[in-house]
Parts: sequence; structure tokens; C-alpha cells
Amino acid sequence: MIDKKQIKVILFCLLLTTTVYAQQPVSIIPEPVAMQQLSGSFELPANIGVALPDGDLGHTFDLLRSKITTAWGYTVSKTNSAKAHIVLSLNSAENGQLGEEGYALAVEKDKVNISANTPAGLFYGVQTLLQLFPADIESNEPLDGIKWRIPLVRITDYPRVGWRGLMLDVSRHFFTVDEVKRYIDNMSRFKYNIFHLHLTDDEGWRVEIKSYPRLTEVGAWRVGKTGNFNFMSTPEPDEPKDYGGFYTQEDMKELVRYAKDRFINILPEIDVPGHSTAAIVAYPELSCTEGADKYTVHAGQGFLDWSKGAPPIAAIDNTLCPANEKVYEFMGKVLAEIAALFPFEYIHVGGDEAPHNFWEKNDQIRALMEREGLKSIPEVQSYFEKRVEKIVHGLDKKMIGWDELLEGGVSKTTAIMSWRKGKAGIGASNKGHKVVFSTSNEAYYNLMQGDRSTDPPLPFPLSMTLRFVDAYNKFDPIPADADARYVLGGQANLWTEMIYNSRQLEYMTWPRGLAMAENLWSPPEHKDWKHFSEKAQQFFKRFDAAEIKYSRAIYDPIVSLSRAGEKYFVSLRTEIEGLDAYLSFDYSEPDNFYPRYTGPIEIPKDAVIMRVTTYRDGKRIGRMLNISLADLKKEVR
Ligand code: ACM
Repeated sequence: MIDKKQIKVILFCLLLTTTVYAQQPVSIIPEPVAMQQLSGSFELPANIGVALPDGDLGHTFDLLRSKITTAWGYTVSKTNSAKAHIVLSLNSAENGQLGEEGYALAVEKDKVNISANTPAGLFYGVQTLLQLFPADIESNEPLDGIKWRIPLVRITDYPRVGWRGLMLDVSRHFFTVDEVKRYIDNMSRFKYNIFHLHLTDDEGWRVEIKSYPRLTEVGAWRVGKTGNFNFMSTPEPDEPKDYGGFYTQEDMKELVRYAKDRFINILPEIDVPGHSTAAIVAYPELSCTEGADKYTVHAGQGFLDWSKGAPPIAAIDNTLCPANEKVYEFMGKVLAEIAALFPFEYIHVGGDEAPHNFWEKNDQIRALMEREGLKSIPEVQSYFEKRVEKIVHGLDKKMIGWDELLEGGVSKTTAIMSWRKGKAGIGASNKGHKVVFSTSNEAYYNLMQGDRSTDPPLPFPLSMTLRFVDAYNKFDPIPADADARYVLGGQANLWTEMIYNSRQLEYMTWPRGLAMAENLWSPPEHKDWKHFSEKAQQFFKRFDAAEIKYSRAIYDPIVSLSRAGEKYFVSLRTEIEGLDAYLSFDYSEPDNFYPRYTGPIEIPKDAVIMRVTTYRDGKRIGRMLNISLADLKKEVR
């Protein structure tokens, strides 16, 4: 039997739960390791005091101050801890659980305490605190009449993996220093700590190298084209090569500092021996193919044939010549300048997709094979990679490269970025290579995240999609069969062949970047798409307030077609529950007065277009997709 006292306790608990539920639910991405929400909130005064420990804290205080003063018009000043409303402290005795990047955050009735073992931990604590404020904290204009309340919480938090990265390809399209800074700021909101810059490729060399000035005088510029990458027309000789850009060494130092202040390391990539057309155009002697002096920096015309598998067959030789001593002199000087610019312990040397077909026919390569006892063309690439590895080690750096390096017998100190299938990275970890997972089916954010009619196609004749739900559910930085001791972490890669500007770059990154951030930081036992997708939708309000472009494909229907004889049937699904879909085949825009979609529908034989959208709670929420039925029918097997 329950006595009166017990009933009182139960009623009190119920009351407590309802009070908690009545508050705005806390949405933090990445999900913290442990969080307890209490009832009540702390309403901040108009003059906020912040107490800070001594030492270099990077951008932490300025971040807090700029957000609060911009959106609220409040003042934020440094003060001692007795008077402070927000106290940041470095633990005097190291707290082992928090490690190098963790933090503890407590919001009490009249004070916020954030403690950590390191300045990085304090920065992450402040990022979490900012997510506890209303979404309007992101406003770029002062707002009146808002009560700036923070819910009372206790959080203990630290990351699952130490390498939490995003890669940006600045070769296929160039992004200015200010655009890159904005990108870094956005990454830092979600506790990313590695920014991989893909600095060189066939379409442009983007970092000033003082010992080889033509790399950027010539190699950074091409004929500008707009269209489908790999299917662009070949430039005419008289078309101006005025599209591109590069970072001076001063720009690069500024970006490194900017990132470091946000506890992000920049990983530079010089992609060799393949993907090197821009370098060869600047210095044709780096090639061992005759006629390389006639090459131009690629403008998006197709030149690699993948129909026979990897490596591709190249129509022009985009490789640095492994049989040419000038190439090693070049790599020595270039990497020395790179090593001096980027303090991060790793240098990325590419290694992917190097075509071998020109090497197979080359006398210099044949002579090298004889001299060095190399039995096959893949061994020629191994020879090249081992010499590059020696250069990198001579600069006191560690080497990392794409998983093709595994074919080259590089030493165990070289880390592998596993991009093709996870199998390569899993194998590498079991052999004792450090590994970063960024697999193309799960972590390539150049893949479409929505319908073909809304997103840019890939530069290949493939229609691959990586929806937000799959970016979240299908990526695991520590796959089951990997040796976790060797897994550094993971990253998403933004290849920019079809990303022409920084708004589109944001659109392709977010919200999928939230999925990667949570997969890299949060304990796997917290993984829960329903909860995560609800939080992500709360973040859409923050993105709106901060004017960050993002994809709302999560609200669009996922369209698929099936065929039975001459008849086609269309089926619709959605990534999240609670959406109603409406469609038409008669060019009219469907609304919620049309019949609601409930199951596969036969497509009228003569229909040309399908229009489809979604509603939630009687309000239009999805985009109006206008889908060519001829295109859709092509995809049915
Ligand atoms: C790659 O996507 N070629 C690394």
C-alpha cells in the first residue's frame, strides 16, 4: 500500500516533471555526454560580469561578448569571480573524465559556472552556453523586449573522438579569406576541431609558394565556366583565364591564427602525384609527358575515364613524374613552406586517383623501374609516396593521405584518410595505421541531400544522394571491425566542383554538418534520429537568425518510382514523421485541399510533370518539387 507521504512524493515528482516539460526543451548539438535539466531559469542582468582565468583563452570571451552585445545590447565586462554572473575556470587539479577538450557547465539561479582542464574545454563550454540562450542570440541586429533567460542545467561533456573535421575543396571553386572565416566560425559552433583545406587540384593551386611563384601566378587561374562539371566545353585559346584566386602566405597565417583562436587546426593538403594539372601548367618540367607545356588549368571539361575502374584512364597526364628528380626538389621546397605555415602536426599529401596510363608508356618511368627494381606501375606510385614520406618526416611532420597510400607500403606512422569504402580504413587500423574515416557514401557532403530537382548533380554520371537522415544514421567514426585504438576520428568532405559560391557551400554543409558533429562528439548510446531531428529543427531557427543558408530537404518528400509492365507507380516517403504529402500531374501546384498521399499512385500514362509538396499541421512546410517524369522514369530499372 502507498501511504500519504509516498503519495505526496509522487505528486511532487509529477509536478516537477510537468514544470520541466512546460519549459522550452533544451536542444544542444552535439548532444552532451550527461545533462540534467532542472526547473527554473537564470535571467541575465543588463550588465553581465564574466570572470576568466589567466592565460590565452583564444576567442572565447570575445565570442560571448559579441553575441550578447550584438543581439541584446547588454554590456559584458571582465570582473572578479565574486561579482561575476558567468565564471570560467581552469581546473587546478586535472579532471580525468573531462580530458583535453571536455567541460562542466552549471547554470544556477544567479550564476553560470564553466570549468575545464584546458582553454579548448572552456571554448566548448561557452558554445554550449550559447545554445542554451534563445535562438535570437544569433541575431545580427539588437532586439528589444526579449527576456534573456537560460534554463537551469548541469552538464558534463567531452568528445568521443579527437579528430572532428570538415574538409573544404578550395581548388574547384575558390573561397575568399572572409568566406573561409565564416565557415570556420560555423564549424566552431558544433565543436569541430579540424579544418582540412584541399589546396591544390587540376582546377587551381591556391596557396602562395615563394620558391615557385608561378604556382599561383599561373596555376591559380582558369577560364571560368558555369554548368555541369566534367561536362564543360573545352576552353578556346583566346578565352580569358581570369577565374580563380589564391591565399598569400599572410592570408594563410591569418586563417591559421583565426582557426586556432577557435581551437581548430588547419590540415593543409597538397594533392600529389595525381590531381596536379595546375602545378604542371605552372611548371611543365614536373611532368614526364611530352606536350605538357601546352596544358591549361582545367575548366571543368571531362578528362578522366572511370569506365574501367580505378585508377582512371587520363586523356591528359595530370601527374607529377615519379621518375623526375626535379619533382622531389619541388616537393621538398613546397612542403617546407607548407610546414612553416601550418603548425598542425600532419600534412596531407593526397595520393588519390593518380592515373597510371601515361606512366605505363614512359621511358623515364621504365628506367626508374629498372634502376629501383620496381615490378609494377603501382610500385612506381609506392616509390613516389615513400620519397614524399621521407620529405615530410624530414620536416618533423607526420604524413596523412587518401587510402590509395595503403597500396604504396608507406610506414605505419603515415595516417590514412579512408574515403572509398570503410573497409580500407578498417584494414589500415588493424595494421596499426592511424585512420580518419570520411567515406564517400556516408561523409561526402557534395552528394545531393534532397531531390534531383533541388540539388546540384554530382560531377559524375551518378545520381547519388546522402540525405540528412542517412548522414546521421549511416556514419560511425569507429566502425565495428576497426581497431579503435588507431582511429583518430572522422570528417565530412565538401568537394566543390558543383558548389559555385559560399551560400551554396553553407546549403550543402548544413544541416548535415550537425549530423557529423554529433556522430563525432556524442556517445553512440545517445544516438536517436527522432530526438536528433527534432533538435536539428530547433537549430533551423538559429540558422535563420544567423542568416546561415541550410537545406530544408528534410521536409521534402523522397520520391521513388516502380514499374509493372507499362505502368509506373510513384511512392513517397519522408525523413521525419508527421508530414502530409500532396501531388499533381497536371502542372497545378498541389495544396492541402488535394487528396492526401496515402500509398503508391499510378502515374497517368501521358503525364509529363509531377508537382509535389508537404504540409505539417495544415501549414505548407516542404518546397514545391517540380519533377520531370521522363527523368524519373530513366532511373527505374
Ligand atoms: C577523393 O574523393 N578522390 C579523395
